[in-house]
Amino acid sequence: MARAATTASPPAAPPASLPADLTEALRRLKLATVRRLAPEVLHTAKVQRWTPEEVLRTLIEAEVAARDESNLRNRLRGAGFPVTKTLEEFKVAASSVPQATFDYLAGLEWVPKAENLCLVGPAGTGKSHLLVALGHAAVAAGHKVRYLTAAELVEQLYRGLADNSVGRVIDALLRHDFVIVDEVGFAPLDDTGTQLLFRFVAAAYERRALGIASHWPFEQWGRFLPEHVTATSLLDRLLHHATVVVTESESFRMRETRTRTTRSRS
Ligand SMILES: Nc1ncnc2c1ncn2[C@@H]1O[C@H](COP(=O)(O)OP(=O)(O)OP(=O)(O)O)[C@@H](O)[C@H]1O
Ligand SMILES: [Mg+2]
Repeated sequence: MARAATTASPPAAPPASLPADLTEALRRLKLATVRRLAPEVLHTAKVQRWTPEEVLRTLIEAEVAARDESNLRNRLRGAGFPVTKTLEEFKVAASSVPQATFDYLAGLEWVPKAENLCLVGPAGTGKSHLLVALGHAAVAAGHKVRYLTAAELVEQLYRGLADNSVGRVIDALLRHDFVIVDEVGFAPLDDTGTQLLFRFVAAAYERRALGIASHWPFEQWGRFLPEHVTATSLLDRLLHHATVVVTESESFRMRETRTRTTRSRS
């Protein structure tokens, strides 16, 4: 471990700033943290007689920590989660998700394997919570994640159709390791929308992990994907390497509403 850049008794002279050429070189190398900390670390090292290795280690570890932190912040911002939900907050026992399935999902090995997760169940049963919480965990584990609703996805693809950039829109989305498509089937799609969704799922197939949530059991996807053959091919790819979880407990929203009502009555 590197030593903290502190002194037992404060040194009399303030740390000298780095020579201009060194400052400029660190700027070019984008080593902002080294540039910021180096004067103080070098000063402390001299006073405390650190070894050269300790100096190097302290500066490099600080740079790596700052980079990790800023990458995490950027990935979190880029994911576009609508809310913050965590796996710790998810009450497995109160849901219909088997503990073993939850543990497997929380382990995240399925993300780099480009397996999918499909959550199907009625309103308020934790589908979005689980997807977003897994998304957060995947970001923390170093993965690139993108959350969007099916409506947003189809809208983006439609816009791509207008300026002939559907391929580029899909490529940009598939630069993420885990793409979450929530609220599939809230609005019915026309034939073009179905084709576009198919193009996206086909492009992601065996390349990226998809997490989807829908109210509709798969046999009823014809309700919002009218083009039968395409809908079948889409489901075929989606479900080939997938964990399917049916969330069928009572709505958490209704439970909380009832608890609140009961509390206010008493
Ligand atoms: N097992 C759970 N443990 C803790 N909180 C839960 C659980 N399931 C759901 N919730 C909470 O209940 C609320 C509704 O859950 P969520 O938004 O995930 O439902 P949903 O299945 O996505 O519903 P919809 O289909 O309407 O989008 C959220 O505040 C969520 O955090
Ligand atoms: Mg939801």
